Amino acid sequence: MKLGADIVVLPTVDSTNIYAIQEVYAHMASHGMVYFAMEQTAGKGQRGKHWLSAVGENIMMSVVFSMDNRSLDSQFLFSSSIALGCYDFYKFYAGDEVSVKWPNDIYWRDRKAGGILIENLIQGSEWKWAIAGIGLNINQTRFDPAISRNPVSLQQIRGEEFDLLGMTRQLCEFLETRWLQYNQNQRSLLSDYNQVLFRKGEQIKLKKENRAFEARLDGVDEYGRLVIFTSMEERFVHGEIEWQ
Ligand code: BTN
Repeated sequence: MKLGADIVVLPTVDSTNIYAIQEVYAHMASHGMVYFAMEQTAGKGQRGKHWLSAVGENIMMSVVFSMDNRSLDSQFLFSSSIALGCYDFYKFYAGDEVSVKWPNDIYWRDRKAGGILIENLIQGSEWKWAIAGIGLNINQTRFDPAISRNPVSLQQIRGEEFDLLGMTRQLCEFLETRWLQYNQNQRSLLSDYNQVLFRKGEQIKLKKENRAFEARLDGVDEYGRLVIFTSMEERFVHGEIEWQ
């Protein structure tokens, strides 16, 4: 089934990721199913954070992927295919200033437009399912400054309101194209990812175990490690290092 051929709209749910995982366990979900929420009461963000989003104003959805024992070594490439699908979609409306901030935030200029949370179901050493949770700011124009740093939405960028379900269907088409690329040409996926990487080639401020330092951002490798240059090349996995 093509991604998004079946979109289930949930008026309110704890988290579309939790819901999708439950549906997979209950054998109710198949590859390509999308769970879209108007409201999440316990939206999940990266690294145990909450994801807050105004009711009925943004895309909050989870896409179910049947991974069919694909290599777990390609986890980052899979995640970059999701980031690139979201990037393509956002760029279509917001233009050239869209980028992907490592590992998979969608940025417009230096403001966050969306985030991705992928949860994998692995049995033994076999990758069975991936749930790609996507939150993209579309129509929200008021954000709580105490909660998110520098957010932005498409309505703020373009000055018009968008039809959420139509946008969701279109996002699924962009995701489908990148899913095919992940299956056919993983090398090109990595180079596409590096081409749209936020601040690539620039000096950036990073923090490791409370030590702040500056480094040149050279790119990301196939395992998703950030490649930076200080006085020598260094590579860091997500969680080991933070943006300042
Ligand atoms: C991040 O921290 O940037 C990732 C945010 C991911 C949010 C989305 S909204 C839909 C899906 N359901 C969740 O509970 N989280 C993801």
